[in-house]
Amino acid sequence: MKRVAVITSSDKGYRGEREDLSGPTVKEIMEKNGYQVVSLEILPDEREMLSKRMAQIADENLAELILTTGGTGFSKRDVMPEATEDVIQRRVPGIPEAMRAYSLTITKRAMLSRATAGIRGGTLIINLPGSPKAVRESLEYIVDALGHGIEILTGEAAECGRK
Ligand code: MTE
Repeated sequence: MKRVAVITSSDKGYRGEREDLSGPTVKEIMEKNGYQVVSLEILPDEREMLSKRMAQIADENLAELILTTGGTGFSKRDVMPEATEDVIQRRVPGIPEAMRAYSLTITKRAMLSRATAGIRGGTLIINLPGSPKAVRESLEYIVDALGHGIEILTGEAAECGRK
């Protein structure tokens, strides 16, 4: 079973001042799609804390996929893309491009997400926006294609076939 770790970037969620529903939304969607959710955590909007945790999950082989929520907008504290870029070794621009292209058919504000994605070792890291609505719209659109990418990454699948 493919393992996914979920990290939410939210100062208020971390301090317990706001119930964060974006992580549970990711969990629900990924479990429906046959993934094992190995962790669900909220961290403050701190670049170094976020990047260190992502690197640890990848380097200790704790999950094949890391999905992050929040911290992709324009607020001064939104640093998830930078934290992700600090630790990825190979960029995967097509995934955020696809999320934004689809999301733009729903809301023009989709262009305000700076989400990025990339690979560190055997782990794919993808940023999602922060609201449960945005998470659902973005993740449900990409989830089918992700499985194949992860199989190629981990060597489980050797060829792409035609789909
Ligand atoms: N993408 C989808 N599919 N649906 C949405 O409602 N909201 C946008 C955008 N992406 C949205 C979306 C908005 S309003 C913002 S500000 C950015 O995501 C960044 O969100 P974040 O700061 O919570 O990460």
